[in-house]
Amino acid sequence: MQTEDYSDVIVYFNNQYVPLRDAHVNILTHALHYGTGVFDGIRGYWDERQEQLFLVRPMEHFRRWKANSGILRIGIAPDASELCGIVVELIRRNHFQSHIYVRPLAYKCAARIGVNPDNRDAFAVVVVPFGDYLDSRHGLHAGVVSWRRIEDNAIPGRAKICGSYVNSALAGDEARRNGFDEAIFLTEEGHVAEGASCNIFLVRAGKLVTPPGSENILEGITRNCIMELARNELHLEVIERPVDRSVLYLADEIFFTGTAVEVGPVTQVDHRQVGSGAIGPVAAELRFLYIEATRGHLSAYRHWLLPAYEPAPAGGEPEPALAIAGDEDLWGV
Ligand SMILES: Cc1ncc(COP(=O)(O)O)c(C=O)c1O
Repeated sequence: MQTEDYSDVIVYFNNQYVPLRDAHVNILTHALHYGTGVFDGIRGYWDERQEQLFLVRPMEHFRRWKANSGILRIGIAPDASELCGIVVELIRRNHFQSHIYVRPLAYKCAARIGVNPDNRDAFAVVVVPFGDYLDSRHGLHAGVVSWRRIEDNAIPGRAKICGSYVNSALAGDEARRNGFDEAIFLTEEGHVAEGASCNIFLVRAGKLVTPPGSENILEGITRNCIMELARNELHLEVIERPVDRSVLYLADEIFFTGTAVEVGPVTQVDHRQVGSGAIGPVAAELRFLYIEATRGHLSAYRHWLLPAYEPAPAGGEPEPALAIAGDEDLWGV
């Protein structure tokens, strides 16, 4: 939990750079009442040795955010590389030399009563210093919650819509009150979906298994990174398939993935020991590889990263989008 006072932090709001203390919305804002906003979350890691702050897959995050906003018919004018430029500018203006979290938020901004949305849209980008979200050093205790994961035909969970996070807040609250570190959602059909704020992987019979996009999950960018690292570096078969609840109790390993959670090994699920009860070798290796890759230590994954403090090219503004690839389609068909 981050408890710092961020009021002096410079944020991007109403197309301007302003201190957070001056970034206000009207109490009648449509998104505040009806949840009609779409957000994303991006991490940046400060690497002391290189004196560099690396943003992790910002192009993919901004592409996802823009596409998801389209589901609510919220328009965001800047393209993904211009949005990367805003984040780089915020990091530089705030002189951040620590791990950070980027929160872009697009929302229906009309200040009036009435649920039907109109075409008044706004967006903001906030960057704050950020440490661990969950302390998973010794493994997490996870519990299946009574709340079911929202259905795509009710509110699409893959869209990161503000209102749909009531589902996650209820699940996370129940899990914590029951003594767990994180919730596990089942779908209405009873299949394992994901955590309240993260995707889930299981190791079974030497294979990595994770629920597919059709199980109402958020198609995580960290999930994609982990699948790539598992295939390329650990030569593991990665299978996307529906997972029954009881398979949680038979898995050799379980771990969560997400921008905030990173790689969070689960050592107990529903008061049952997972595997040996210690952090498993696959989770440990993938966590290590993910940390190395996101700090810019693995050249094979350098294209995931945008360095915020790269010197500007001579005679012009920095062009951060040129520094990263990211044209591939992460989510397939
Ligand atoms: C419900 C949910 N699932 C999964 C994730 C992981 O997604 P990503 O790895 O893109 O952060 C998140 C976090 O954003 C989330 O909120």
